[in-house]
Amino acid sequence: MQYLIGVDLGTSGTKTVLFDIHGKEIASSLEEYPMYQPQNGWAEQEPDDWWKAAMNTIKAVIAKSGVDPKDIAGLSLSGQMHGLVLTDENGNALGRSIIWCDNRTIESCEEFTRLVGGRERLIQIAANPALTGFTAGKVLWVREHEPEIWAKARHIQLPKDYVRLKLTGEYHMDMSDASGTNLLDVPNRCWSQEICEKTGIPMDMLPPLVESSDVAGHITEEASRLTGLAVGMPVAAGAGDNMAAAIGTGVVKEGKAFTTIGTSGVVFAHSNSVQIDPAGRVHTFCAAVPGQYIVMGVGLAAGMSLKWCRDTFFQSEIEVAREMGTDSYVLMNQEAARSPIGANRLIYLPYLMGERSPILDPESRGVLFGLSAMHTKKDIVRAVMEGVMYSQWHNLNVLRGMHVAPNAMLACGGGAKSPFWRQMMADMFNMPVSTLQNTEGPALGAAILAGVGAGIYKDVPSACEEILKESEPLLPDAQRHAAYEPYFELYQKIYLDLKNEFHTLAQL
Ligand code: XUL
Repeated sequence: MQYLIGVDLGTSGTKTVLFDIHGKEIASSLEEYPMYQPQNGWAEQEPDDWWKAAMNTIKAVIAKSGVDPKDIAGLSLSGQMHGLVLTDENGNALGRSIIWCDNRTIESCEEFTRLVGGRERLIQIAANPALTGFTAGKVLWVREHEPEIWAKARHIQLPKDYVRLKLTGEYHMDMSDASGTNLLDVPNRCWSQEICEKTGIPMDMLPPLVESSDVAGHITEEASRLTGLAVGMPVAAGAGDNMAAAIGTGVVKEGKAFTTIGTSGVVFAHSNSVQIDPAGRVHTFCAAVPGQYIVMGVGLAAGMSLKWCRDTFFQSEIEVAREMGTDSYVLMNQEAARSPIGANRLIYLPYLMGERSPILDPESRGVLFGLSAMHTKKDIVRAVMEGVMYSQWHNLNVLRGMHVAPNAMLACGGGAKSPFWRQMMADMFNMPVSTLQNTEGPALGAAILAGVGAGIYKDVPSACEEILKESEPLLPDAQRHAAYEPYFELYQKIYLDLKNEFHTLAQL
């Protein structure tokens, strides 16, 4: 039997999963690491924490499974997108990475857009506006604010590319992750010479581009010593986490879509051709399927909102869950189910880290609207879960306007393990919602890419067809859909009414 490894480099930790070539999970290992927030709206991580987590979890899955490393045919990676990793000429990271949910670069993004010749020109080339989460604004920010780091920087990398560099010694970036840099000519799948020249970002700092299933190097002797993998094993390029999740959930054809409740929240649809929202509210990226595209809306604090809620209000449930040997989120779900639709007239806006799609406002912040002395924790947790789902619904409506929305949804990410949250999704979206029997979307997607690279599978769509099995869908309820509607209307209006006040608050 042959095996494949998928490494999912996330924000809260790295999870590595070893699968057999039929997609069966054999062993998995997770290592967590911190996210640093030195200022309100900033977010950083240590690239070497990612590398250490990858090494340790790879070693752990080999040990747990007892598999002979020679039987592992390939490995690939799914990575949190957009984070800027600058490396010196020896491939060493120059300080912490500014990651995807950091919003410090408002002015750098304005400057970048001006240099390129305006928002419209930028969207024509890069398919997306300059967003604070994306990489180019971070490059300009470091160039201006940390000139000593910029002077030493030779390579621009994304998080998973840094880990792949450590495994293979080679610099590469795949089209899907490169789409989130603002430097890629997305329709033509190449670096944009025009953008680089106009903004003064040296093109030779950008790595060679490959498709996600292409082999982008082999395990070096050093990496073999550190991880236990066999020298020379092929490593496929991999993909940005959402595009990897699309592979792991079989969203590889037009008409297919998924919604993720992970740290971030994503509504994602596959498209055979480039579809661009002229207002730039949702992202158009290259798919991890060679030559194909995707459209997605990204909310920054989905699971992060529930985690914030848990850490702030549910300390005792964390204790109780530990004693009962269960998960604190299970207890929180039970609490939420005791509150009615609308959470007793309490509405939550999940903009804890500012917000991306569809409002594109890094200065917005979270809101609990309508707090009353009668509210208890059950209403707060229900309002948080509903608010996260309103934000997904808001994005789905943009996709509907672009005619790329599906009529059935796959739910993935940690939050989708909750049947309560999935039913809420079905009711709000007014469509059937299924999950996959294998819930390791991004890691499985990475493993499938590894398998295509290693020649185990013919191509990505046929591998997905062979491996993935959907669960029976949860069906929407028309009455509940109608009950959510007025709250959703109000949810959208609250942001519009508070927009100026968020900006005033940010200046205080
Ligand atoms: C996508 C995005 C997030 C991160 C972290 O544009 O910023 O989904 O990839 O998961």
